[in-house]
Amino acid sequence: MPIKSEKTKTKWVCQNCGYETSKYLGKCPDCGSWGTLAEEVELTVKQNAASQRALRDDEPSLIDEIEIDSSIRFSTGLEEFDRVLGNGLVQGSLTLLAGDPGIGKSTLLLQSSCNISNNGKKIMYVAAEESSSQVKLRAKRLNLSSDSLYIYAQNNFELIKKHITDLKPDVVVIDSIQAIYSNDITSTAGSVSQIRECTNLLMDLSKSQNITIIIIGHVTKDGNIAGPKVLEHMVDSVIYFEGDKYKSYRILRCMKNRFGTTNEVGIFNMTEDGLQQVTNPSELFLNKEETNTPGNVIIATNEGTRPLLVEIQALVGSTAYPSGRRVSNGVDYNRTLQIIAVLEKRLGINLSKQDVYINVIGGMNINEPAADLGVALAILTCARDVVVDSDTVIVGEIGLSGEIRPVNNLEKRIIEAQKLGFKKIIIPKQLKSGEKKNFKGIEVVEVKRILDAISACVNKVTA
Ligand SMILES: Nc1ncnc2c1ncn2[C@@H]1O[C@H](COP(=O)(O)OP(=O)(O)O)[C@@H](O)[C@H]1O
Ligand SMILES: [Mg+2]
Repeated sequence: MPIKSEKTKTKWVCQNCGYETSKYLGKCPDCGSWGTLAEEVELTVKQNAASQRALRDDEPSLIDEIEIDSSIRFSTGLEEFDRVLGNGLVQGSLTLLAGDPGIGKSTLLLQSSCNISNNGKKIMYVAAEESSSQVKLRAKRLNLSSDSLYIYAQNNFELIKKHITDLKPDVVVIDSIQAIYSNDITSTAGSVSQIRECTNLLMDLSKSQNITIIIIGHVTKDGNIAGPKVLEHMVDSVIYFEGDKYKSYRILRCMKNRFGTTNEVGIFNMTEDGLQQVTNPSELFLNKEETNTPGNVIIATNEGTRPLLVEIQALVGSTAYPSGRRVSNGVDYNRTLQIIAVLEKRLGINLSKQDVYINVIGGMNINEPAADLGVALAILTCARDVVVDSDTVIVGEIGLSGEIRPVNNLEKRIIEAQKLGFKKIIIPKQLKSGEKKNFKGIEVVEVKRILDAISACVNKVTA
């Protein structure tokens, strides 16, 4: 019901973080952003749509007597997506898929919607931003067809709810939450109040009718979903779809998961025919011909529980400035400074008059210390004009005294290197005696210090 004007009280709500205040402020005291407070109508408890939720009247039950429904999870038809979700979608859950505009959220969900419907589930795709024919056009380009996928172009929540109740789908996709509005709220679609209430209403719908709902949310330019704090704690899972605008690969990352781990990632390639799964991501980031150059090193990093081989490059040269510049793309800047400091102090290499550039091929971001030894060897080989053997992979964290420290998931990294045809891997000394023999077809070299690693794999340039 529309709210009568004589009763309305207004409040100012930060459109970035959801902070509320009774008067206008230029700067949000909570998240610090400027000019984000907008006036919205305050709802009384009765008018608050969320308070109209259906009451569930279950008796308390003993944990041992609760039965688990075995059909609780189902596949999206995309293995990479399933893994990020923790082995598929959970029946009756509410998932938020967030990402930059144009990254491929609609494409991903249209592809999975088709797969899900072809597996015998009824699915309703609510296109709140596009017309049905636009969705059909996309489906045609992606070569998708299905006989139980309903497209509904609508952005009014009450009408969407009516059709969900009539159609009784197993899965509903809302594309996107920012375009949906409820009649109960007077503020415009996309405002924090609308997003919050619509998500709340969708949550009720999902839990009361056991419908799996996936909502798409656009990330605003400063990296937050509009009303992010408000949305993230309400939904069951939050998944980010990221990627480089200039590269075709996309990464699916789980930020919150009530039903599984949050450290898995899924990798896709965006092509004309839609998103292709990348089952062997290491190949995407490697360029084997270029590795036999000073400054190029291949490391085995971890994305979630999956190992990933990536190439790190360093460029070291005399500086035109009073002191050398350090530029680090893909590796944490402070980590790079720390590695340079260790090289200077422990190995006596003077880099103060040298510029050092670090780059990770393919635009990957590496956030783990296990890349340290690779970065150090890239800098060293470039500075001294030598090379790391091209069929060698480097793993290891560097401590401040120059020691190589253990890393996690080592076994998987070794197996990945061996699978991709590498002949040697340099690792920290952490294997138990006899374990080394388990790895066939790859020479495993354990090192304690940076110098050991250098003597194990660094050679003169052979033209
Ligand atoms: N005709 C096309 N050929 C190839 N790629 C396309 C075509 N149309 C769109 N795309 C790709 O799809 C992306 C848009 O995907 P979409 O799923 O609509 O993104 P989102 O829903 O996240 O805004 C574009 O950035 C582009 O990479
Ligand atoms: Mg879209």
